[in-house]
Amino acid sequence: MTGDTAGEAAIYARGLTKYFDSLLAVDHISFSIEQGELFGFLGPNGAGKTTTIRIFMNLTRSSEGTATVYGMDTVRDTLALKSVVGIVPEVSNVFPEITARSNLTFTGALYGMGRRESASRAVELLGMFGLEEHGGKKAGQLSLGLKRRLAIAMSMVHRPKVLFLDEPTSGLDVTASRSIREIVKRLNSEGVTFFLTTHNMEEANQLCDRIAVINRGKIIAVDTPGKLRRAASEAQSVEVTLNRRPTAVEEAGLAGIDGVTGVAEAGESYRLLTADPERTLRSLFRFLEAGDLAVSAVSTPGPTLEDVFVKLTSEEQDVGSGS
Ligand SMILES: Nc1ncnc2c1ncn2[C@@H]1O[C@H](COP(=O)(O)OP(=O)(O)OP(=O)(O)O)[C@@H](O)[C@H]1O
Ligand SMILES: [Mg+2]
Repeated sequence: MTGDTAGEAAIYARGLTKYFDSLLAVDHISFSIEQGELFGFLGPNGAGKTTTIRIFMNLTRSSEGTATVYGMDTVRDTLALKSVVGIVPEVSNVFPEITARSNLTFTGALYGMGRRESASRAVELLGMFGLEEHGGKKAGQLSLGLKRRLAIAMSMVHRPKVLFLDEPTSGLDVTASRSIREIVKRLNSEGVTFFLTTHNMEEANQLCDRIAVINRGKIIAVDTPGKLRRAASEAQSVEVTLNRRPTAVEEAGLAGIDGVTGVAEAGESYRLLTADPERTLRSLFRFLEAGDLAVSAVSTPGPTLEDVFVKLTSEEQDVGSGS
């Protein structure tokens, strides 16, 4: 399905590594993204997502390894690469003091477009991104959602084949996030290959063809959302707050409840990890009826990113120890 050599892939990394002094920010990561794919890079704060994008943009040098886009090396072929790649950085690159339209024409000029060409491209992009009414407004006066849309429009000025988006919906409300996701899907259906980072598991699930889960610089899983969801469903939990602190015997009893694969203290409450919250709930109430512990609150929170990480990393260890 996916080209596994630098030449075939749209975006390719092999053994990519970045040290900041002794800090290993990106740890020998490899992946291969085919043309037209919508690839998600999912990980918590500090995982190495932005650093990876910065290496592809040649804004920072890798310490080891290779990064290519359509076979073009990010260090050797910088100029050629710029013409096929667009980027929407984590921190807004929109100039607040000039109008939305001028942001677009200015970006066009940076890509060597003449005045007339950049002006007509700006009109086209304002239309494509639903920004027609806002073209004459100073970019700094636009809402965060519209500003993000403008940033994506700016990244598309030179019609790149590949877009790198660094947390495109962070800080946006539900409606603005959805509008950004729709734009991403539309551009993708028109053939643009995407590499986008997020720490939002649900967003990655909704948007991406494949997701790489990155944690502390390492890719710990690359899979389709469906397969990752299955791993997540096995990382559900029942959270219970009791009327008093359980004794050691009672605590052991909690661990023995049907379906429970682990118990973690979470502040005042206990988190019972289970693949089957319903069965665990029923068994929990039977356990409590038999003793004199009472529940003051109970909930079944969905899997957190951390739960999925724990699940995936433990699987990784199982595979390692099994072979
Ligand atoms: N210029 C730098 N100098 C030193 N350390 C850095 C630098 N840039 C990033 N780091 C460190 O490298 C690690 C990875 O950072 P990075 O910004 O790539 O993470 P991220 O996944 O993008 O996180 P976030 O979700 O917070 O944006 C972090 O520990 C960070 O502190
Ligand atoms: Mg980042």
